Formats: sequence, structure tokens, C-alpha cells
Amino acid sequence: MKLLREKIELEGIVLNENVLKVDAFINHQMDPVLMKEIGKEFAARFKTEKITKILTIESSGIAPAIMTGLELNVPVIFARKRKSLTLTTDLYTSTVYSFTKQESNEITVSKDYICEGDHVLIIDDFLANGQAAIGLAGIVEQAKAKVSGIGILIEKSFQPGANEIIAKGYRLESLARIESLKDGKVNFAPKRQIQNI
Ligand code: G4P
Repeated sequence: MKLLREKIELEGIVLNENVLKVDAFINHQMDPVLMKEIGKEFAARFKTEKITKILTIESSGIAPAIMTGLELNVPVIFARKRKSLTLTTDLYTSTVYSFTKQESNEITVSKDYICEGDHVLIIDDFLANGQAAIGLAGIVEQAKAKVSGIGILIEKSFQPGANEIIAKGYRLESLARIESLKDGKVNFAPKRQIQNI
């Protein structure tokens, strides 16, 4: 997605060979115009999948997920990383290990909001090792619903998550793919041509 690549080039900061800082428009300050366009782009890419729900994880996945939900006219659910005061029973849970942060989070979603027969689109901001997306897919499968696709804003193609998701047979759509973050520069990879089936 051209607009996202341009934003990354203009406002992204390469912290090191593994980490791109996008606090200016995704992770801290958010750009609503960009988020609206992202919603339209995901809606167009997944329009044939008969999506009934969108699932993301707090916190940075929520903005693009809600914009996509608005375009597709479906509810948006976010998995919680922290225990909720009111969300205490009948939960789907999955353990997500973050290699970046070296910590495990138990993520939870109420059984009320994903049901057998749902076609779920998973949305997240970054794809690095893929653990968050795989954990979310696990929750969808616990509910006997279908993972209809995984939509990612920024895929770091040099890390293992993308290949792992494709190997599991999920449809992956990434709006910007980064081949490397060498010498303080963002090098983009081309759009993935052959979709997994
Ligand atoms: P994985 O889910 O693909 O395995 O990723 P990983 O555990 O490595 O990532 C943990 C957190 O770090 C996630 O955010 C993820 O979005 C973020 N992250 C990973 N790589 C980058 C990067 O290059 N730049 C930035 N800015 N973030 C990255 P989180 O803890 O869930 O945070 P948030 O959603 O609350 O913002």
C-alpha cells in the first residue's frame, strides 16, 4: 500500500536492524486518515471472504481493525492481554510469547463474541515472529470458527512470522513488507505475488 510505505519512509525511525519505530502514526500518535485508508484496503482485499467478525489484540491493532470493521460493516473484537474486571468467565485463552519483549501474555476473548460459523479476519499492526497472529488464530479455532485471513500493516519479512503463517495455510495480506532494516534504512520487499491457498 503506497500511502503506508510513504508514511514509513517519511516518519518511521529505524531503531536497529530488527525494530522500526512508528510511534508517529501507529503505536502512539495515530493518523486517522491513514487508518481509514487502511480499513478500505483490507476491506477490498478480503471482500470475497464473507467476513463476519474482525479480531485483533490490544492495543495497536485496534485502530486499523475498527476502520476495517467500519468498511465491512462487521463487529470488531480485541483480545485482552490484561485481566478484565468484568470479563471473568467463559473465556477462550491462548498464550502468546513475545521474542521481542521476552515475555509471555495470556490473551483472552469472551466466548460470547466468536461463534461456530463465524468467518474471522485477524488484523494486527506488526508481524515479526507471528506469535500474536498464531495465538489469535488459535482462539478462532477454539471457537470452531474459520480464520478467513490475516491482515497486517507492517510485515518484517526477514523475521519468521510470515512464513510460519503461510505454512499453516492461512491467507496473509500485508500492506507493507520490509525486507531489511540495514544501515538505518527501510528496504521494502515487493507485494507478495503468489498467495497461499
Ligand atoms: P509477534 O507477535 O509477531 O511474534 O511479534 P513480537 O512478539 O516480536 O512483538 C511483540 C510486540 O512488539 C508487539 O506489540 C509487536 O507489534 C511489536 N513489534 C514487533 N516488531 C516491532 C517493530 O519492528 N516495531 C514496532 N514498533 N513494534 C514491533 P505489542 O506488545 O502487542 O504492543 P501494542 O500492540 O500494545 O503496541
